Amino acid sequence: MSLLSEELILWYSNNKRNLPWRDTQDAYPIWLSEIILQQTQVKQGLPYFNRFIAAFPTVQALAEAPEEAVLKQWQGLGYYSRARNLHAAAKSVCERYGGRFPDTYEAVRALPGIGDYTAAAILSFAFRQPFPVIDGNVFRVVSRINGMTEPIDTPACRAEIKRFLEKQIDAERPDLFNQAMMEWGALLCLPGRSALCQQKPEACFYHKHCQALKAGLVDRLPVKKEKKAVRERYLHYCYKTPDGLYLRRRQGNDIWKGLFDLPCMETESAEVPLPGLKCVKQYTHLLSHQRLHLFFYETAQWPPGIDTDGCFPVAREHWADYAVPKVIEKFLDFLRKKTR
Ligand code: ADE
Repeated sequence: MSLLSEELILWYSNNKRNLPWRDTQDAYPIWLSEIILQQTQVKQGLPYFNRFIAAFPTVQALAEAPEEAVLKQWQGLGYYSRARNLHAAAKSVCERYGGRFPDTYEAVRALPGIGDYTAAAILSFAFRQPFPVIDGNVFRVVSRINGMTEPIDTPACRAEIKRFLEKQIDAERPDLFNQAMMEWGALLCLPGRSALCQQKPEACFYHKHCQALKAGLVDRLPVKKEKKAVRERYLHYCYKTPDGLYLRRRQGNDIWKGLFDLPCMETESAEVPLPGLKCVKQYTHLLSHQRLHLFFYETAQWPPGIDTDGCFPVAREHWADYAVPKVIEKFLDFLRKKTR
């Protein structure tokens, strides 16, 4: 066992958080937790995980559920393609593997929505195979302990980090090694100046060996390349008075596919395209590469240019039955309060 591995697992054993997806070797909750935790932090993810497991206790139950029920459980986490992939992968596990998760890297990696990270997590946690998990936390930790000052988000740098971890990983307990690496990033080696060593070096078990700490670079690592530009989008939504809310299911290869929103007109700028209509609410909502500007108007008639294809009226007591994007949920809450 490497020195790093030994000290790391010792620290982890004494300091880890008790989380429901640890202490199990069942691939289903492990997989589910990893998909949820790609989307949100542990604290916010826990109630989702518990509700999901309660609604769909097994991979069979998930496979047999209607897509809308799955999206409904996911509601609020955002990035709904993850939920659709989760559902598709559950079906695949049932159809192709009789409901038992496959235990080879290739088979797991080939399931919908499972990338290198999730495949390594499942194989190491459920089957104790020595694949290192490499997520944002692990990148940060490794870039710091090795003092890597090149941008880490390049194929060459990823490969270097992977090779390093393959050498370090504990072959007997790759599950503990991987959980511990992630816990290190989550509890000690926090981003920027929040890293605990910045207050007190001894707060970290590895402070004597950390290159970034020696060089005074902790708060500046990891280095990343320039961010991709953010696309601005302007969405103008209408709801009708006095007969209420209409919803429609979003189709096509765009945001929120399969979820419900209101009849909409998209424009190229913030300029209000619907003269005479009253804008009752406005939100800005950030996705990974898009900034959405949402405007909500009250109208008696559908104005020209608004896309009402497939829309249908929904009585207030049924609003909650539909899986809607987070920001639309916010608007519905606003309407509930406004017109109670
Ligand atoms: N973040 C991603 N995966 C995690 C895990 N298994 N435990 C804690 N935090 C995580």
